Amino acid sequence: MMSRIQLHSDGPVFSRLVWGAYRITSDPERREIAHIARMVDTCLDAGITTIDHADIYGGYRVEALFGEMLASRPDLRNRIELVTKCGIALVSPARPDHRIKHYNSTPEHIRQSLENSLRNLKVDHIDLLLLHRPDPLLNAAEVAGVLETLVGEGKTRAVGVSNYTPSQFALLQSKLNIPLVANQIELSVGHTAPLHDGTLDDCQRLGVLPMAWSPLGGGRLLDPEKGNPRLVELLTDLSARYNAGGPGAIALAWLLRLPSKPLPIIGSTDPKRVQALARAGEIELELQDWFQVLETATGRPVP
Ligand SMILES: NC(=O)c1ccc[n+]([C@@H]2O[C@H](COP(=O)([O-])OP(=O)(O)OC[C@H]3O[C@@H](n4cnc5c(N)ncnc54)[C@H](OP(=O)(O)O)[C@@H]3O)[C@@H](O)[C@H]2O)c1
Repeated sequence: MMSRIQLHSDGPVFSRLVWGAYRITSDPERREIAHIARMVDTCLDAGITTIDHADIYGGYRVEALFGEMLASRPDLRNRIELVTKCGIALVSPARPDHRIKHYNSTPEHIRQSLENSLRNLKVDHIDLLLLHRPDPLLNAAEVAGVLETLVGEGKTRAVGVSNYTPSQFALLQSKLNIPLVANQIELSVGHTAPLHDGTLDDCQRLGVLPMAWSPLGGGRLLDPEKGNPRLVELLTDLSARYNAGGPGAIALAWLLRLPSKPLPIIGSTDPKRVQALARAGEIELELQDWFQVLETATGRPVP
């Protein structure tokens, strides 16, 4: 059974594996409301209850599609936890006043973006709001103020960040009276920098949970032509040994063994794949298998 995990000591409780809605507009058939509902049903059957969004996904369209789906399936609302993000401003027909891709971390934008997400998703609150990217113009004291107010108003249960370094995290946390409960970062067996640059050490020290985006490298990790064929071969061999149902589940199980307790965000919009990947939650990789995956991914033994 899929385990559940609390983000920080008084944060929301999420499923250990998360599903990300980022790619639902990339294929015309998969952006159908019925397909989105099928994805959520598949996730729930597999014990995945937490769903990751951002205001900008699908050129600002994904949240509204998801909200349409929720309106047609009101039974789903109380069975899921919702995460969304704010702060990136894309050049898009949906935002004709944007001349250049930029960040906007003003308190006004953060409030407006969350309120817009709630309207699009057709919900009165979400479980976690993340600042999508570190912003050189972010005024930590001002942003802390608006984040506390939004939690106080019940619009989001908790707040966190994404793609933050430990010092960026420490700066914002130093001005906040509530905890940042998550740092959503790129993390996979193909992107192991956070294991060594202090990001995961900080998470473990502070009890902040990392959420791992592109846990399969956006699919490249499992593609022998685009990725590392030796790694694909090893993940496939291990999948057979652990009866994992495919190499992807081993790549996720590798992340689940990290003591900082990352929550991998599955990006597939194929129900069969999501079902198979959810097997990762039941697999505990043996110590030396874990290091064999690391060695094969990096191309060298540990020192
Ligand atoms: N905070 C941030 O800055 C940030 C950045 C990027 C993403 N994210 C979040 O992270 C989530 C996951 O990112 P991601 O989509 O890059 O994750 P991913 O799970 O690494 O990649 C999913 C992609 O890989 C493809 N794929 C190819 N072969 C596959 C296989 N055998 N098994 C599974 N997938 C395979 C999937 O195609 P199919 O759909 O056809 O299966 C899909 O296009 C996003 O949905 C979003 O919520 C956050």
